[in-house]
Amino acid sequence: MSQYPSARFSVAPMLDWTDKHCRYFHRLLSRHAQLYTEMVTTGAILYGKGDYLAFNEQEHPLVLQLGGSDPQALAQCAVMAEQRGYDEINLNVGCPSDRVQNGMFGACLMAEPGLVADCVAAMKAVVAIPVTVKTRIGIDEQDSYEFLCTLVESLLAVGTDALVVHARKAWLKGLSPKENREIPPLDYERVYRLKADYPGLTMAINGGIKTLTEAREHLQHLDGVMLGREVYQNPYLLAQVDRELFGAQTVAPSRHEVIRQLLPYIEQQLGKGCYLGNITRHTLGIFQGLPGARAWRRHLSENAHKPGAGIEVVEAALAKVPEEMLVYS
Ligand SMILES: Cc1cc2nc3c(=O)[nH]c(=O)nc-3n(C[C@H](O)[C@H](O)[C@H](O)COP(=O)(O)O)c2cc1C
Repeated sequence: MSQYPSARFSVAPMLDWTDKHCRYFHRLLSRHAQLYTEMVTTGAILYGKGDYLAFNEQEHPLVLQLGGSDPQALAQCAVMAEQRGYDEINLNVGCPSDRVQNGMFGACLMAEPGLVADCVAAMKAVVAIPVTVKTRIGIDEQDSYEFLCTLVESLLAVGTDALVVHARKAWLKGLSPKENREIPPLDYERVYRLKADYPGLTMAINGGIKTLTEAREHLQHLDGVMLGREVYQNPYLLAQVDRELFGAQTVAPSRHEVIRQLLPYIEQQLGKGCYLGNITRHTLGIFQGLPGARAWRRHLSENAHKPGAGIEVVEAALAKVPEEMLVYS
């Protein structure tokens, strides 16, 4: 995306997965990829007990994804987010869970393009950082191309800075959120067409992308790609992103190096009362496909939850994986 170069490749917002520990780990793998928080509701930020905006400085460029549909509450949260140093705010108009629908936000907002525009306008009026939207290509029976265009036009009218489109529709009744990420078919062509029809709107595509080769193909049509599950399950994919998609000359760290770089962070977090498994759970896939991958996962799964577990557990797990020979071309 010319306006926001880091959005050329982003790691999707994923509830319960892309917490601050996960993002710190992902940042060790890629300097340039844009990282998203999990969706945080305005209610949690404004009335919750915890600090739902906490992050590590190393995580930039970092997008806060907000869930909500009250323009004033969203504007309040946007100001707080900007003050805390977030680089961008993204409004969730794509999550189909029941809990979210009861709160009148997420994917059901696709049916209320005027309200979505009011939300974006209210945020844009009070912050200088970009305000973007993540959505789907349709909901329920409302899945025509024209329906999607109506939303896009109302977003354009209020100066929305970019749009991320998960290239499948959502069924609001009858499918679980997980099923809604698998069952409705992907329609990349529709997203390409949308970008072609609205070339002035910065647009990223999301859904089912598994390799950087696929990512590069999408980038022929769109400004950015967003990957979710594949990055989480196979995080080492991120290690090639800076070279392959951002043109950086940096040499990717080995998997062992990344884990060693994580150790001081783990120690620091344990010192603050965090428990080891909360961090290591995000790293289970780092050796995917290599000898020792199972031993790594198993050692961590069996030991990281034990009271008092510390970095020696990670070191012992690492010792079970043969160190790779890196070959640079
Ligand atoms: C565990 C999980 C949690 C998710 N939570 C969110 C969320 O908080 N906000 C959101 O916009 N999308 C959420 N998603 C959807 C992803 O952002 C993404 O749109 C979807 O997984 C499709 O991309 P992928 O095929 O690359 O995974 C979640 C997905 C998963 C797997």
